[in-house]
Amino acid sequence: MEYSARSGSLEKQRSQCIVVPVFKNNEMSAQAKKLDAASQGQIRKILNRGDIRGKSGQSLLLHDVRNINAQRVLIVGLGDRESIDTTRFINAVRTVITRIKPLSITNMICCLTDVPCGDKSISWKTLRQVEQFENGFYQYLDMKGKSAADVETAGNTGNTLARIDFFTSDRSTMKEIKNGINRGSALAEGLALAKDIANTPANICTPAYLAEQAVQLASRFESIEASVLEEKDMEEMGMGAFLSVSQGSEQPGKLVILHYRGTDDSVKPHAIVGKGITFDTGGISLKPGAGMHEMIYDMCGAASVLGTLATIARQALAINVVGVLAAAENMPSGVASRPGDIVNTLSGQTVEILNTDAEGRLVLCDALTCIEKFEPVSVIDIATLTGGCVVALGRVATGLFCNDDQLARQLSEAGEDTYDRVWRLPIWEEYQPQLASAFADMANVGGREASSITAACFLARFTKKYRWAHLDIAGTGFQGSGSNKGSTGRPIPLLTQYLDDRAAETE
Ligand code: BES
Ligand code: MN
Ligand code: ZN
Repeated sequence: MEYSARSGSLEKQRSQCIVVPVFKNNEMSAQAKKLDAASQGQIRKILNRGDIRGKSGQSLLLHDVRNINAQRVLIVGLGDRESIDTTRFINAVRTVITRIKPLSITNMICCLTDVPCGDKSISWKTLRQVEQFENGFYQYLDMKGKSAADVETAGNTGNTLARIDFFTSDRSTMKEIKNGINRGSALAEGLALAKDIANTPANICTPAYLAEQAVQLASRFESIEASVLEEKDMEEMGMGAFLSVSQGSEQPGKLVILHYRGTDDSVKPHAIVGKGITFDTGGISLKPGAGMHEMIYDMCGAASVLGTLATIARQALAINVVGVLAAAENMPSGVASRPGDIVNTLSGQTVEILNTDAEGRLVLCDALTCIEKFEPVSVIDIATLTGGCVVALGRVATGLFCNDDQLARQLSEAGEDTYDRVWRLPIWEEYQPQLASAFADMANVGGREASSITAACFLARFTKKYRWAHLDIAGTGFQGSGSNKGSTGRPIPLLTQYLDDRAAETE
C-alpha cells in the first residue's frame, strides 16, 4: 500500500472514497461539515434519517454525493467526541477496513487523523492507521498453488486498494503525518516479516530455516550481524537443557545471535530472546492430536525478535540490541529426552525433566544464561510458553513477568501506547517450592496450579544477573484455528515502542 499526506479542499479531491468521522448523535467532524456544506446539506439530511447515530462501530456508505468529486463517502461513528481513547480509535480504523475490503476501489482518502484521541499526536494516529491497514490487508499466500493475483479462494479477498491518503485540513501537520507514515511503514514491514515466518509450516520452517531468515535479515541491513551456534558449539559450552529438547529431532537445533548496532559500541545493549520451537509435539509427553497443528506457532517469540530488529533497523534507531533465537524442534523419538531425565544447564544448575512438553523454558534458560556476557541493560524474553496464560488472560493481554518494577512499568506503558497490551502477574518466592525436585536443583514443571507463573519462576532462576522481563504470548502471538488463523505479530509493536522510548531517553 502507498500512503501520503493530503491537504486542500476536501470536496474537490478526486478519490474513489473519502472516509469522514461523525461523533455521538451524529455531531459532524470538521470534514463532514465541509462535505455537507458543499453538498448543500445532503449529508446532514441523510444523517438525520437515523441509519447511523455516530456510535462507535457504526458506519454508512454513500455514493455520488452532490457536488463532491469523490465517488463514495464512508461515514464512520466514533462515539462521544470528548472521550475517544486508543481502543475506540483503533476500532474505528478496523470498521473502515471491514467496510472498504469488499469495495472495488484502488484509492481512498482517510480523515481520521484530525480525530481527537486523548493526548495522542497526529504522528501516532497516522502510525496506528498504517499499522491497522497493513494488518487488515495482510495475507499469507506463499503456500497457495497459484500466484497471489489469481487466487480468489480461501484467504484472498482479491482486494485492489493500493493507495491511502491521510487528509488534514491543517497544512502545517503534513510533516507529522509523513513521520507517522514512515514509522508505521517500518513497523508494518517488521510485522509482515514476522507473520510470514511464523505462518510458514513446520515442514519448511525448521530451526535451520529460522537461522537462514536471520542471516538474510543481516544481509539486508548493514547494522545487523547474525551468527549461529550449532549443536556441537552448544555441547562444548554446556547447554544441556537446550540440547535435551533438540536431541529428539532430525532437525538440528540452532542458537541464533543477532547484533543490531545503532549507536556507539561502548553503549550496553538491550537483549530480546525469542522461543523458537518450530514445532512442539510435546515430545515423549506427547500432546493430544486435536489442535496440535497450532504448534507451528511455537516459534512466534523468535519471529517477533526478527520483526522487531527489522523495524528498528529500518528506523535506524540509536540503540544497541542483541537478539537471540532459541530454535529447536520438540519431537518424540528413540533418542528424545524422557520424563525423569536430568540435565545440566549452562548456568550449572541441574533440571529434572518431569514433562518433556515444558520444553520452552529448557531452551530459553540456556539462551538466557548465554547472553550474560553482553552485559545487557535489560533482557526481555518472548515465548508462547504456557497454555495457562491463555486461560488466565485470553487473547487480549500478553502475560508480563518481571524482576524489576521500573522495567515492568516501561513495558506496560509501551503496551498501552501501542494497543499491544500486557498484564503483570507475580513471580513471588512463594511459588518457587512448586518447582522442587527430589534429585536435581529443580524440576521443569510446577504442577497444574499457576502454571504460567511457575514457568516464569523457572526462568527467574536463570536471570538474576540483569533486569529481566518475560512476555508469555501463548494467547496473543497467534490465532490457532478458524478463519482468522494466523500470526498476529505481537508483541512487535510493544517491543519497538519500548526500544524507541529507551533510545529517546539517551538522546
Ligand atoms: N508451547 C506450549 C504452550 C502453548 C500452549 C502455547 C497452547 C500456545 C498455545 C508449551 O511448550 C507447553 O506445552 N506448555 C505446557 C507446560 C506444561 C507441560 C507445564 C502447557 O502449558 O500445558
Ligand atoms: Mn510444549
Ligand atoms: Zn512449546
